[in-house]
Amino acid sequence: MPSKFHLIYQLAMMGAFDVLPQMVKTHGLVSRVGNRMRHKTVAAVSHVAKTYNGALYQDTPDRLVLENVVIPYYQLDPDVRNIVFVGCDWYTAGYERLFAHKKFWTIDPDIAKAGFGAARHQIAPMRNLAALMAEGQADLVVCNGVIGWGLNDHDEAEASFEAAWRILRPGGHLIVGFNDRPPHIPFHPDELAALARFEPFSFEPLAAHEHRVAHELCHVYRFYRKPVAGA
Ligand SMILES: C[S@@+](CC[C@H](N)C(=O)[O-])C[C@H]1O[C@@H](n2cnc3c(N)ncnc32)[C@H](O)[C@@H]1O
Repeated sequence: MPSKFHLIYQLAMMGAFDVLPQMVKTHGLVSRVGNRMRHKTVAAVSHVAKTYNGALYQDTPDRLVLENVVIPYYQLDPDVRNIVFVGCDWYTAGYERLFAHKKFWTIDPDIAKAGFGAARHQIAPMRNLAALMAEGQADLVVCNGVIGWGLNDHDEAEASFEAAWRILRPGGHLIVGFNDRPPHIPFHPDELAALARFEPFSFEPLAAHEHRVAHELCHVYRFYRKPVAGA
């Protein structure tokens, strides 16, 4: 009868302890339990985000600019009433409240994100913005963190910003936020003809058409306006 130490020695010699952690990680039961726990965590976070809208927020420098400078500015602008926010996630669940007293729409093709959207939410890609509202009805479209985060195809992006152009009124505002470094920059927004139709405008609180946030994701906010014919 081999002793316990002998058995452990034998197993060690066979390399069992090198592969054991890998076996535990990939064992069907262990990965099922892991997945279930992950789903339950996601479900719990989603529930909190939806129920206590805005209770959870993403504490990153780019989000601070969006939530403390950009959103309050438009919330207080009486000329901006109809707002479309493209792309949702747990940290955007409170944006409908931040835009209280406005008409607020959200759009995202991912059905799993619908719970984080507004009451007026469409499960659809940005290119279908016309399904949300009439031509010229929007005062502001915010497309933040979508290029390179699902909106990765150049032609799809052309169609998407074309759709934004159609729903915006002349003089309406478009904000494009993107990471100006790989892996989340499949193309540069400057390559888009649909975006070149908009005129850059200097966003008053930041005194610039482009604001670069100093952190590792190199997040950039660009401010555009649909020109007023003859202006
Ligand atoms: C990183 S999250 C950004 C969420 C939010 N817009 C923000 O302020 O950060 C990217 C979201 O964009 C959505 N998305 C990807 N492609 C899209 C498209 N073509 N139209 C609308 N939303 C899209 C994804 O489903 C995902 O929920």
